[in-house]
Amino acid sequence: MEKYALPKLDNDSDLRGLLLKYCRLIEGEIWSDPNREHKVACLDATTSQQIKKLMDGKLASLAVHDPPYNFIVFDELKEEKFIKWSKKWIKNSFNSLNINASIYIWLGADYKNHFQPFANFILMMRDSGFNSKNFITLRNQRGYGTSNNWMSIRQELLYYTKGAPKFNVETVYTDIPKVLKGYYKNVGGEVTENIERSKSEFIRPGNVWIDVQQVFYRMEENVNGCYAQKPLKALERIINASSSEGEIVIDFFAHSGTTLIACEKLKRKCFTADIDPVFCEISIRRLERFRTTGKTGWQNSNPFVDEIKKDRKIKKLLADKYNLIY
Ligand SMILES: C[S@@+](CC[C@H](N)C(=O)[O-])C[C@H]1O[C@@H](n2cnc3c(N)ncnc32)[C@H](O)[C@@H]1O
Repeated sequence: MEKYALPKLDNDSDLRGLLLKYCRLIEGEIWSDPNREHKVACLDATTSQQIKKLMDGKLASLAVHDPPYNFIVFDELKEEKFIKWSKKWIKNSFNSLNINASIYIWLGADYKNHFQPFANFILMMRDSGFNSKNFITLRNQRGYGTSNNWMSIRQELLYYTKGAPKFNVETVYTDIPKVLKGYYKNVGGEVTENIERSKSEFIRPGNVWIDVQQVFYRMEENVNGCYAQKPLKALERIINASSSEGEIVIDFFAHSGTTLIACEKLKRKCFTADIDPVFCEISIRRLERFRTTGKTGWQNSNPFVDEIKKDRKIKKLLADKYNLIY
């Protein structure tokens, strides 16, 4: 039962507009964290000057981006525009990364439209300077569309590299116990069994992740108001594998601030951004809440609950439109 729910903000520009006055950043501004040197910037990821300002001469060892792609569905020049737009933030990422670095990009594929924008995006990446490295599928527990097609339960995660970055394979075990016995191998004259040889009692994740639960309202990490939150567990896995403590991780599409929280937990510095001041504010508040309460989200509440309780206009909107009583 949700006590102080907040509708998804992409569906309600009035509500989003009313929340703006509670946001500390306006476009072009950067919040610098006094504790661990994270940064949250309100900027357009395609603008090189703004990204340069965020980086301030520093370079990251890892980029994790989750760009919005649903908006192209209603656009006539959809793929072409999306690719032209993506080229810009990909270039900005390339210039913000060390000579040896990794980049992960979450990207969907529209099955009814020749798997766009995924199809054109991977072609565009051939000229980006990045090398293709892997293609991960995260298996959702819940899906949609079962009546006349295979149920859609996957999320795609592209993995590219620049130069020769490290890959910390030891840090990325799942919590799935190894049970498969009987795979014998001769190593230096000694025949050993699979489980004897392994360094961990758990299996390594591979490039199909079946052990990551997608975020939904019952989970502690859920951030009410957000519509595209990625699971912390996935971000932690990426960050563990492709960066080290103290290094900079960039994410130009912060939204609920998942990469920021994962960086805080894993002692990395996160330089993150969102074009929307409301999502910048949510990201900062999520970090502050995590530091004071240890909680990773707002189950049964939301980032603006204190202000909403005192704001007659928002209270009226939530009551009239959604029957939500504060
Ligand atoms: C799919 S969401 C990212 C979700 C995020 N990974 C999370 O776990 O919460 C995409 C975000 O990109 C932001 N955005 C859209 N266009 C942008 C741009 N040009 N520059 C920066 N951010 C942008 C949107 O406001 C939205 O919050």
